[in-house]
Amino acid sequence: MCGIVGYIGNKEATPIVLKGLRLLEYRGYDSAGIAVYANQTITTIKKAGKVQNLIPLLKGIKGNIAIGHTRWATHGEPSDINAHPHSSASGRFVMVHNGIIENHKELRDVLHTEGVALKSETDSEVLIAYIDLISRKYKLSALAACKRILPFVKGSYALVIFDKNDPTRLIVAKNGGPLVIGVGKEESIIASDASPLIGRIKNVIYLTDGTIAEVRPGRVPVITTITDGKNVGAELVPIPKSITAIQKGAYKHFMLKEIYDQPNAITDCLRGRLKPGAQGIKLGGIESYEDRIVASRHLQIVGCGTSWHAGLLAKYYFESLAGIHTSVDIASEYRYRSPLINHQDTVLGISQSGETADTLAAIMLAKKQGALTLGLCNVVGSSISRETEAGVFMHAGPEISVASTKAFTAQVLTLLLMAIRLGYIQDKNQSIPQSLLTDLLRVPQLIEQILTDTSAIKTLASSLSEQPLIVFMGRGVSYPVALEAALKMKEISYIHAEGFAAGELKHGSIALIEEGTPVVVIAPSGMHYEKTMSNAAEVQARGARVIVVSDVVHEIYETIQIPKTDELVSPLLAVVVLQLLAYYTADAKKLPIDQPRNLAKSVTVE
Ligand code: M6R
Repeated sequence: MCGIVGYIGNKEATPIVLKGLRLLEYRGYDSAGIAVYANQTITTIKKAGKVQNLIPLLKGIKGNIAIGHTRWATHGEPSDINAHPHSSASGRFVMVHNGIIENHKELRDVLHTEGVALKSETDSEVLIAYIDLISRKYKLSALAACKRILPFVKGSYALVIFDKNDPTRLIVAKNGGPLVIGVGKEESIIASDASPLIGRIKNVIYLTDGTIAEVRPGRVPVITTITDGKNVGAELVPIPKSITAIQKGAYKHFMLKEIYDQPNAITDCLRGRLKPGAQGIKLGGIESYEDRIVASRHLQIVGCGTSWHAGLLAKYYFESLAGIHTSVDIASEYRYRSPLINHQDTVLGISQSGETADTLAAIMLAKKQGALTLGLCNVVGSSISRETEAGVFMHAGPEISVASTKAFTAQVLTLLLMAIRLGYIQDKNQSIPQSLLTDLLRVPQLIEQILTDTSAIKTLASSLSEQPLIVFMGRGVSYPVALEAALKMKEISYIHAEGFAAGELKHGSIALIEEGTPVVVIAPSGMHYEKTMSNAAEVQARGARVIVVSDVVHEIYETIQIPKTDELVSPLLAVVVLQLLAYYTADAKKLPIDQPRNLAKSVTVE
C-alpha cells in the first residue's frame, strides 16, 4: 500500500528519500513521486510506474527538504497526474497522503464554489487544496489550518505537508495508516514504517491516531491531539532489530527466501514457548488473560486474506483442543454486519502487518463493545498490537514479499500453541497427546526436509503454468490449507485457482472439472483421509488430473509427499509444498513474484 518518506535536515534530501521509497517498494504501488525544496522553490517529479523512473528526472535537483510517496491507486487511475506529492493551486503547500478521504466529494464541491480548480482525480489533492483555501481565508499557519480542517475530514490519513512559507518544518498528522518519525542528529525522517530509517536513525516515535506534529531537524516534536491540542508526549523507541536485516541474499525473490526462512521462523516462534507438557507452554503476552479467555462466551477471530485462513484453522484447534466456541470472520464483513459482541467475548485479530485497516477497525469495534481484544501480529509496534489489550507476536521476522508465507506458518503454529495451552487451563486433567507436542517440536526439521528436494514440485509447477484453472481441495484442517493454496496460486501466478472443502464439490463446483483439470488434493493421514480420497476418486472419474499432497504413497495418483505428523500439525507441512508450487508456477511464467499486479503488502485502506 502507499508509502511515505519525508526528510528535513542538513543533508541532501533527494537520495535519502529515494532510497527510503525503494525500501518501501515491497508494500506494493503503481506510481511514485518526490517534491524537493530549495531556494524558495518546490520541484515536484512524479510518474506512473516504478520509483526507478524518477531517477533520471531528479538529476541535479538538490535541497535539504523533500517528501516522497509511492501510491497504490484508490481514487483515479495510476498516472503521472494522480501520483503524489500533490500541490495546492497557489503552490504554497505540497503534500503526500496515505489513506482515503471519504468526504472528498463534499470538500470538492466547496472548492468548486470557491473557484479552486483541481488537476487530479484524487481525494488527496482535495485535502491539500482545502488546507490552502482555509489558510488563505483565515490567514492561518499550516498547523493551524490542519487543526481547523482535519476534525471534519472523514476517512483515514497519514500525511506529510510542506509549507513553502515556513521551510523550517514538516507537518505530519495521522488518523489511520501508520507513520513513524525518526529523530537523528540535525535531521528528522518521517516514513510509513521504520525500514527507510535503518542505518540513519536509531530511535523512532510511532504517531498515534488523531495526532498532529511539526517536525523540525533533529528535534523531538511536540505531538498534540488534532481536536483539542492536548500534548500527548513523544515516546522514542528503538527500531526493532528484526527489521534491520531485510535482504534477499542469494534468493531470486523475497518470497522464495521467506519460504526457506520457515524452519528458522518456526524455531524463533517456538523459542521459550514450548517445553514438554501443555503446562509447559508459555505465551507471555496472554498469560494473565488466560482464565478470562477460557471463560469467554465466544471467541471471535477476525482477519483478512491469509490471516483469515490462519483463523479458519484456529477454529479447528480452539474447538477441538480447548473446547472454546469459536467463530471466524473476514474483518471487512464483521465490522459492517452488527456482530453480537459484549464483555463476555474475546475477539482475536490476526494480522501479519498489524496495520490492515479492516482488521484494525473490527478490533476497535469489539473494544468499544466491551470484549477482551487480543492481537496476533508479526510487526512489533504495529497498530493492532498497540490497540489490543493483550496478544502474542509471531516472531517470524520481516516479511517483504506481498504473498504471505512464513507469517502464515508462524500464525498457525502460534494458534495451535494457544489452543493447547488454553485447553490445559480449561481442564488441567485433560491429557494432550504427547505426539502432538513432539510433532510441534519437529516442525522446523520436517519443513527443512521438504525444502531439501523440491525437484518434483518444480516439475509439477512447470506443467501447471499454462492451465486456466487449478482446483485445491481438502477436509478438516486441510480445507483452510486448500483456500490458502488457491490464494497463493492466484495472487502470484494469475491463474484462476479455487479452494474447496472436498465434500462440498459435488454440491455444484464439480461442474468446473473437465478432462485434464488439475485438482490438488490435500490428504494427510488421519480422520479425514479416507473420505478425502473418495472425493479424489469422484473428480478423477470426471477427467481431473489428481495430484495428492500426502504422507501416504499412492500408486494411482501423482503424489507430492510430506512427512507424517499428527493431522493437526499437517497444515504446517502441506502449505510449504503448496507455497512452492505457487512460487515455481509463477516463476515459470516469469511474473514479478514479490510485487504482483494490483496488490499491496499492507492494506491500510478498507
Ligand atoms: O497484514 P495482514 O496479515 O493483516 O494482511 C492480510 C492480507 O492482506 C494478507 O494476508 C494477504 O492476503 C496476503 N497477500 C496473501 O498472501
